[in-house]
Amino acid sequence: ASADIGVYGLGVMGANLARNLARHGHSVAVFNRTLARTERLISRHGSEGDFVPSARLEDFVASLRRPRVAIIMVQAGAGTEAAINQLRELLEPGDIIVDAGNTFYKDTQRREASLREQGIHFVGTGVSGGEEGALEGPAIMPGGTAESYERLGPMLESISAQVDGEPCCTHVGPDGAGHFVKMVHNGIEYADMQLIAEAYALLRDVAGLSVAEIAEVFGSWRHGELESYLIDVTAEVLARVDPATGEPFVDVVLDAAGQKGTGAWTTQTALELGVAVPAIAEATFARAVSSSTALRAAVRAADLDPGTTAVAVEDRDAFVESVRLALYGSKIAAYAQGFDEIATASADNGWEIDLGAMARIWRDGCIIRARFLDDIMTAYAQDPSLVSLLTAPALSAALQSALPAWREVVATAARSGVAAPAFASSLAYVDQLRAPRLPAALIQGQRDFFGSHTYHRVDDPEGVYHVLWAQAGRPEEKWD
Ligand code: 6PG
Repeated sequence: ASADIGVYGLGVMGANLARNLARHGHSVAVFNRTLARTERLISRHGSEGDFVPSARLEDFVASLRRPRVAIIMVQAGAGTEAAINQLRELLEPGDIIVDAGNTFYKDTQRREASLREQGIHFVGTGVSGGEEGALEGPAIMPGGTAESYERLGPMLESISAQVDGEPCCTHVGPDGAGHFVKMVHNGIEYADMQLIAEAYALLRDVAGLSVAEIAEVFGSWRHGELESYLIDVTAEVLARVDPATGEPFVDVVLDAAGQKGTGAWTTQTALELGVAVPAIAEATFARAVSSSTALRAAVRAADLDPGTTAVAVEDRDAFVESVRLALYGSKIAAYAQGFDEIATASADNGWEIDLGAMARIWRDGCIIRARFLDDIMTAYAQDPSLVSLLTAPALSAALQSALPAWREVVATAARSGVAAPAFASSLAYVDQLRAPRLPAALIQGQRDFFGSHTYHRVDDPEGVYHVLWAQAGRPEEKWD
């Protein structure tokens, strides 16, 4: 038994993680259900480090030094479940199974509890950065026990992205905390992508910019407050011309966005927790709308609003700047929502997640890496008990300067008939939280009227009241 760590599942992500580990001086056992993949990894990349290939799972396990660490990187769902069940037969108390796929955190909690009975540590780990990140340095979000992190953490920290010598990897918290945080990372990723897509739609369909011009606009945003990997990706995608037709690439791609489920999980979980994440929810719904082919065709054919046209934009440059501000404001709101979801789940589950550390490990390697994460990190450093990112000094100042333009952009979008659901709902989120009074009081009245659901009074917030709506004079009574 000589290998420091093993990787089970050698698809692109697994193979790249194994190579990254080997390149950092770790001896890596590798196993794949079909041997050809293992052989291909060794023949192509065997010289990059110390690999210990096995054709049989028993040999893979036997090649690991104790306590054994095996990372599973197979297809999420049934594939992961099967791999865990095979491994647990062969492992011993003290050994560590790591699931590095995008797994729903409740599955991770269930598996962690079950493996714990056997004395095996189960570490659900978020890994972000796609194929390239897995090889060159991803952001890594491990959950599980602190004890397992002592053995596993240094290896993961050595292969993660680094910012100023600090690894983009930290122990997130116990059981499903790592997968939870990765789920919310993806939810924020969905929101960020949708917001960027709405900015593109506004620049194109309201301001009339060409795709090439929009590519340049995003190129210029690379260097400001919006500096981020997703803005880089956007500029690259928009600049591509389809070689077959000479058309912008974005015009030859079918406008139906796919999804593998993490945005939906983030939204569903927020609903369960009672946390508002409208930007993430709108982003997920927008993908669903885009893929509703028959629905779109039917409504399009009904020609509901033939009158809507693009409004003349007097000053294009000013509009472009307004869209930039609206995008930045919306982005702050979306991140505030995601961090609120993490904070709420952390309190509910007793995870004690360090929110500033999440911002720190997302600064590089992952898909949502952005300059703006420095501000979030600073915000939590200045005030670890910060209730919302909206109120952090640097971010609230940014929001204040974005709001006038943001309102204009949302209004212009509505007048032009160009959908900007994530811009609009992010603005509504801020406006709801700012409001001294919400119309929720009316909803309480309605609930009390038709269902005796009771209400609290502003002059007695603890007391439970009900109006006898059906009685003459409609008297109010206080319930015990
Ligand atoms: C990452 C990505 C990664 C994957 C998403 C894509 O952090 O590296 O988020 O996990 O690209 O799952 O999700 P959709 O297919 O749902 O867009």
